[in-house]
Amino acid sequence: MKIAVPIEIRAGETRVALDPDSCKKLIGLGIDVAVEAGAGALAHFSDHTYQEAGATIVGNAATLLGEADFVLKVNAPQSRPDGTHEVDLIRPGGMLLASLFPTRNLDAVKRMAERNLTVFSTDCIPRTTRAQAMDTLSSQANIVGYKGVLIGAMELPKYFPMFMTAAGTTLPAKVFVIGAGVAGLQAIATAKRLGASVTATDVRPEVKEQIESVGGKYVGIDLKQGASAGGGYAMELSAEDKALQAKMLADHCATVDVVITTALIGGVFAPKLLDETLVHSMKPGSVIVDLGADGGGNCTLSKLGTTVEVGGVKIIAPLNLPATLATHASMLFSRNLLNFMTAFWDRSAVRFNLDWEDDILKGCAVTHEGKVVHAPTLKALAQAQGGKA
Ligand code: NAI
Repeated sequence: MKIAVPIEIRAGETRVALDPDSCKKLIGLGIDVAVEAGAGALAHFSDHTYQEAGATIVGNAATLLGEADFVLKVNAPQSRPDGTHEVDLIRPGGMLLASLFPTRNLDAVKRMAERNLTVFSTDCIPRTTRAQAMDTLSSQANIVGYKGVLIGAMELPKYFPMFMTAAGTTLPAKVFVIGAGVAGLQAIATAKRLGASVTATDVRPEVKEQIESVGGKYVGIDLKQGASAGGGYAMELSAEDKALQAKMLADHCATVDVVITTALIGGVFAPKLLDETLVHSMKPGSVIVDLGADGGGNCTLSKLGTTVEVGGVKIIAPLNLPATLATHASMLFSRNLLNFMTAFWDRSAVRFNLDWEDDILKGCAVTHEGKVVHAPTLKALAQAQGGKA
């Protein structure tokens, strides 16, 4: 079997789907790996290190993808600068593993089904203990939480830690983290390590203990209906609960220096939690880091991918933060893909085992045999076409 690793062409992307170390391990399984020339350059992996790992370097994407049985990518396939689409370069019937966010990339999904590709999306992998090692959502969200706090600290016109100096004492910055999943918990831990005083909230009640375990103080409300959707995902709040939460957020945000938002519904879409009135009630000089930006943003005033200032409050909405930590992001992403490939690799038959009885494989399959086979994506497609789910 031949695996191909192309250059990621998404604007601003620096990651590569396979680092030389994981490449070597795949080759050790008896798989041929071909890498597009320069694919690892922005993550600081040279072509030479891939060659040392045993990979072949191929000069252009068309040859590379056309000859592959299995393509490994970071992002969903997209149109190329020359007008061709990445999907059309993959041979019909080929396989693809990437973090597709299929419900956000319906055009690519339709093309992949039409091309008869068998496609797996790592962000749809069921959240089970066995699947943890393959979970790119977690490995990349950890980076988002870490980097988001560093950005907040850089932009705040105050220290994060308390300092007692001859010139006087500065109090620790007050950081409030909204949404305490993987990114949020890392944000709490990172802000705490920098010496801030950290509060956090979430709509899943089980998270209170996790917030406290990484040094945060839980700020919550008693929701009337609850919002756990299972598997660690949250549902949208009822209108009554939204109003309760909005009051709590408005009261608390007015007292803090940095607000870091990480809230997502179903792991995909960002609910709007901070509005203009709330922003105007915050202290001048305070900072909002909207880490829900990739999902559309948690603040109604966020301008995705950039920074705006409203009434002295900076609102930063960075996109694709994992790309700012290219080497480690790629390394961890690669391990996730390697663990997936290894789990379904049949050593004796030297082939990828399409075990449709397996909950992981079945759960993250997006297209197969010309059809879309992922229920939430089918629902999103139906909604996009104005039909019924
Ligand atoms: P996520 O990215 O889907 O959402 C982020 C957080 O936002 C969640 O904690 C969610 O409850 C929260 N949220 C949603 N709406 C909100 C609102 N209105 N206000 C405040 N917070 C809101 O979640 P993530 O980070 O991917 O994972 C959440 C949990 O899933 C983790 O804490 C973990 O327990 C579990 N998990 C399990 C895995 C496994 O077992 N393989 C892998 C990944 C996560």
